[in-house]
Amino acid sequence: MSQTIDWSDEYLVRLDEIDVQHKRMAEMINNILIASYKHRPKEELLETMEVFLKYVKWHFQSEELIMKMYDYPDFSEHRDEHVVLINNLLDKKMEMERKNLSANNLYSFFFGWFGGHAFSSDKAMAPFISKSITRL
Ligand SMILES: [Fe+2]
Ligand SMILES: [Fe+2]
Repeated sequence: MSQTIDWSDEYLVRLDEIDVQHKRMAEMINNILIASYKHRPKEELLETMEVFLKYVKWHFQSEELIMKMYDYPDFSEHRDEHVVLINNLLDKKMEMERKNLSANNLYSFFFGWFGGHAFSSDKAMAPFISKSITRL
């Protein structure tokens, strides 16, 4: 059975701009997973991964800009996490280049990666930003 990331309200951090981007990220991950389930050529899989990486980098930059704008106290820890998350993706991309990874392998990786990102530091940061916005 082919598994993808089912978007649910549990993923929401309640900041519209970030939620829209996270939703797009989930869609892009699903594109990679579907390509894998359909046994598309490796080049196509790596291309979708490359597009995803670019989007993630842009997303992290926009989060970092928001955090800086509102003087978020845990900015540097959050930025460090982004660096680790990008490195995890780069490692996975290298592994995908070297081996033919199963769709289940990719699903476990991306499910953990996405949940780890959206559920941890982003959920902690969003209420601070929301409060700062309403105070303006
Ligand atoms: Fe995020
Ligand atoms: Fe983040």
